[in-house]
Amino acid sequence: MSLLRWKDEYLTQVEEIDDQHRRLFDLVNGIYDMMRLGRGQESIVEALTELFEFTRFHFGTEEKFMADSSYQGTVPHAEEHGRLLDQIRDLRCEVRDSRIVMSMNEIYFLKDWLLVHFQGPDKGLAYHLLNRAIPHIENVGL
Ligand SMILES: [Fe+2]
Ligand SMILES: [Fe+2]
Repeated sequence: MSLLRWKDEYLTQVEEIDDQHRRLFDLVNGIYDMMRLGRGQESIVEALTELFEFTRFHFGTEEKFMADSSYQGTVPHAEEHGRLLDQIRDLRCEVRDSRIVMSMNEIYFLKDWLLVHFQGPDKGLAYHLLNRAIPHIENVGL
């Protein structure tokens, strides 16, 4: 069974963000499956590298949306992205250098940040993007 199951309540309704969030779910589930199947450290480090790269790409997508729409919450949101990226990079280095073994603690850390970040800051950004996109309809006397 997968660690993370996608639910509609995770949707932000911004298609590009939701597609990338689903991909992040898949990547974390893939790491969990590798652990369950007892795959070696090298495969897990490779998967963490892919997770890091895709997370960086995803954060770049959201930060471009923020810049293009003059989003007021840009600074705290982008700071959280920076912290999360640092944590994934550190985790990858620690596993690579055998300072830690990937365990349920680490996989729960990945799971929790996904769920908390998607449903907090990302929903705030999506709300801003969607409301900005709806044209304001004036009373034109019809
Ligand atoms: Fe975000
Ligand atoms: Fe996101």
